[in-house]
Amino acid sequence: MINRIRELLSGIEDNERKKKDEQIIYTLLEKGYFPGLDGIPVIKSAISHIDGEKGLLTYRGYPVQELAENCTYEDICYLLVHGELPSYEKWAELRKKLLQYKEIDKNVGRVILEMDRKLHPMYMLSAGVLLLQANDPECFEVDHYYNSSKRALRLIAALPGIIGIFLNREIDFTNGKEFDSFAQYCLYVFNQEYALDEFWVDIFEKILILHADHTMNNSTFSVRAVASSKASIYASIVSAINSLSGPLHGGANERVIYMLEEIGSIDNVENYINDKLAKKEKIMGIGHRIYKTYDPRSLYLKNEILPMIFGSGKKIDSSLYELYKIAEKIEEIVLEKFSGKGLYPNVDFWSGLALKAMGIEPAYFTTIFAMGRIMGWVAHWVEHMEIKNRIFWPEQLYNGLDTRHLPAEREEEITVSREAAAND
Ligand code: COA
Repeated sequence: MINRIRELLSGIEDNERKKKDEQIIYTLLEKGYFPGLDGIPVIKSAISHIDGEKGLLTYRGYPVQELAENCTYEDICYLLVHGELPSYEKWAELRKKLLQYKEIDKNVGRVILEMDRKLHPMYMLSAGVLLLQANDPECFEVDHYYNSSKRALRLIAALPGIIGIFLNREIDFTNGKEFDSFAQYCLYVFNQEYALDEFWVDIFEKILILHADHTMNNSTFSVRAVASSKASIYASIVSAINSLSGPLHGGANERVIYMLEEIGSIDNVENYINDKLAKKEKIMGIGHRIYKTYDPRSLYLKNEILPMIFGSGKKIDSSLYELYKIAEKIEEIVLEKFSGKGLYPNVDFWSGLALKAMGIEPAYFTTIFAMGRIMGWVAHWVEHMEIKNRIFWPEQLYNGLDTRHLPAEREEEITVSREAAAND
């Protein structure tokens, strides 16, 4: 059988694809199914690409580091949705539109203010995005591309406002204010003083760009799965926000900082890691499904962004330097211990330190991931509207009981006990 499979695969010219297909067949033969859909292609997409062996991530063909180095949020938004970088006119038009669409309807704002402060910001964001649907009754006509892409833009523009109203307790938070760029507005939501400093705006914008898209990860898969039922863009994006909140996905960035704080000192790192491994628990911010080498976004944060921040001479809390050193020590031990296993610090491992340096609360870190990733989610939603759709419905292997029937005496027992209860 193996030889027959090899013969069939020999017709595939792309060696990388051939290797992956071989792996899929071996997994199927060995396990009978694909836990976590690992390695299973579910869609064709032209938006982003990862080469996990080489540590390469591209958006529409461009390496993510080049984009982070040279582009703006608006460039990436246009590139992901339309496939090419914008002309100056298109870029300026998009910037104007994003800033124009940023205002949040007062009815929505009122509900956001009513939400319990204890609600996690990601859950608040998920509820807030659904509220936007009330002003968009036509959103259910998902097949109209023009309407969809316009709606998609409004959704990207609304995200910071929802977070800003909740965080700053101000219904008019987004209204009537002028900004030079969308990234500046995004940072303004979290730190109004730093949003006036180009140094911080530039770093914040780079972080948003690094998070903008990442192939068929769990949240983007949620977008496509929900979109495949022809549900509205709001339903799709909210499913992605909820997926992103999980600790195995975007929620890791918040937890990395808690982990560094819990470790407290460089001297405790080794024991902490050994203890986690002994308990078979995951170390937050380590590992990746696709990368078998250093994630390029993570490398960019480590080699470019963090040295820029910690070497800038800007005012930074001394306790944050300590957390930075703890993170470096974890990295050293992880690279040493797991070098054969392909486990490296991922993007969430380093991003929290940069966000904390901007005075942002860890509970809000994943909302910033969402502010960047919404560009990718929306691009995937628009792309999905253009393909010949089939509803996502993967197979399950049923391992429950054989068909069985209720015993005849059960009905009698129920009648007796109901009568007894009624006479009580
Ligand atoms: N700490 C310790 N061991 C880890 C690990 C981590 N963070 N991540 C993976 N591993 C080990 C697993 O224990 C497993 O070992 P085994 O083969 O001996 O059982 C192996 O590496 C494969 O891990 P698995 O969980 O099956 O990989 P996955 O592809 O299903 O999951 C992640 C990928 C990202 C979910 C996983 O690495 C993880 O949970 N990381 C921590 C959370 C995180 O940082 N998430 C953000 C991702 S950007």
